[in-house]
Amino acid sequence: MGETPNLQELLRDWPDRPDSLIPVLQEIQDQFHYLPEPALREVAGHLRVPLSEVFHVATFYNCFSLEPVGRHLVQVCLGTACHVRGAPRVLDRLLRDLRLGTPGTTADFEFTLRTVRCMGCCGLAPVARVDANTYPHLTQAKVPGLLKKYRRKEQAQAAD
Ligand code: FES
Repeated sequence: MGETPNLQELLRDWPDRPDSLIPVLQEIQDQFHYLPEPALREVAGHLRVPLSEVFHVATFYNCFSLEPVGRHLVQVCLGTACHVRGAPRVLDRLLRDLRLGTPGTTADFEFTLRTVRCMGCCGLAPVARVDANTYPHLTQAKVPGLLKKYRRKEQAQAAD
């Protein structure tokens, strides 16, 4: 399985018991930034857990993704308070600067852009989150500087 070269090694570190399922999935998510379907099949066999149960866990928790995601997760709030204070313009700028037509993952897997409905901090509107960091009162003009913080040095130079 080309895209999961260390899976066997990873599985060897865990007892082949069903209660290893969540930590094993977390480790695969950390290593590959998503849960490739072939890996889920191997996990099911190794831990002797039905594949349906593995898929149930993989789709139940927000921390898991069945699609490849970028190194950084950018979440833009489009809830009412953020919307009326200019979030759509911020989203447009993010899409443009990340060269995306719609929210999703950049070709280089550096960023995944998602929209969310209210982050519970409407007083900071319009607001976005990058990984665990919250950015308040965003404007289009602040977007390039925000992305620059997360780009690798060589990419930041290329984007300037
Ligand atoms: S509407 Fe954006 S944080 Fe509530």
